[in-house]
Amino acid sequence: MHNLYSSVASVLNPASPYAREIGRLFWITFWISMVILVFVATFVIFNMIRYRDRGQDGLPPQTHGNTLLEVTWTAVPLAILTFLFVLTMQTMAAVSPPQHPSSDPVHVDVIAHQWWWEFRYPDSGVVTANELHIPAGKSVQIQLTSVDVIHDFWVPELGRKMDAVPGHPNTMLIQADDPGVYLGACAEYCGAGHAWMRIRVVAQTASDYQSWLTAQAKPHPAPRTLAEANGKALFVGLTCSSCHVVNGSGATGGQVVGPDLTHLPDRQSLAAGVIPNTPQNLRDWIADPNSIKPGAHMPNLHLTPQQLDALVAYLEEQP
Ligand code: CUA
Repeated sequence: MHNLYSSVASVLNPASPYAREIGRLFWITFWISMVILVFVATFVIFNMIRYRDRGQDGLPPQTHGNTLLEVTWTAVPLAILTFLFVLTMQTMAAVSPPQHPSSDPVHVDVIAHQWWWEFRYPDSGVVTANELHIPAGKSVQIQLTSVDVIHDFWVPELGRKMDAVPGHPNTMLIQADDPGVYLGACAEYCGAGHAWMRIRVVAQTASDYQSWLTAQAKPHPAPRTLAEANGKALFVGLTCSSCHVVNGSGATGGQVVGPDLTHLPDRQSLAAGVIPNTPQNLRDWIADPNSIKPGAHMPNLHLTPQQLDALVAYLEEQP
């Protein structure tokens, strides 16, 4: 079983122009703070030693008021804060430019749910979940909303973080310089499943990304084995299709409650990042979702082992 979290998502490891701007602001602020820390600590230690109690009687000489000192300790912090304020404004402008830097932007609608992410590609009609594919080296415009409570989209290596607010779409840009997998998570406490509302961004070369989009636009393959055919019948006949879409299943699902499962085998993880996507893990997940992700809205349907096998065969069917 491969490890889903072998790398660390850190703002100190920027992989995009936006994240580099944020990293730069972090380091400048960090080093200014370090200088202040060393100065204050040294000054305190010096005074503790220099003016320690040497056994004399009574209070030492008391000093009141020093105009030069008071002006200095007001002016210096003001200058530092003004500098950081201007720098922060510059960073904010750089990570959220008013105009998209590309004339041919990639658009993705990101819709947050308790506790998973829906990704829709309006230009191609592709819908996926929890794993966001983007072309490397291109700025991607994300429109962010939520269907329930406030969530927060954050992939630290690729850009800023932003709240997903119900009824109030926000837009932001992310970019990955190079192909690779970049980890992120929901960064706003949103209920029981908050810790397992992970994001995987899969940045691909332009041609790999196009192939991925083309494959995603196709329907789920028709069943080839008896188990797959039984699984399809169960998917449509049980309540699965009331919450999940599988294009090609024939079921006309209602509103989107759970992730689109049309191309589930392509994903690396299940349940928004809890477990690697393997047939056995999918079987365990369907059998008892709450034992894997406490609080998950997916119900336990108390399926028989044969039903579980059939559903897994159908959903994990390779194209
Ligand atoms: Cu969604 Cu925290």
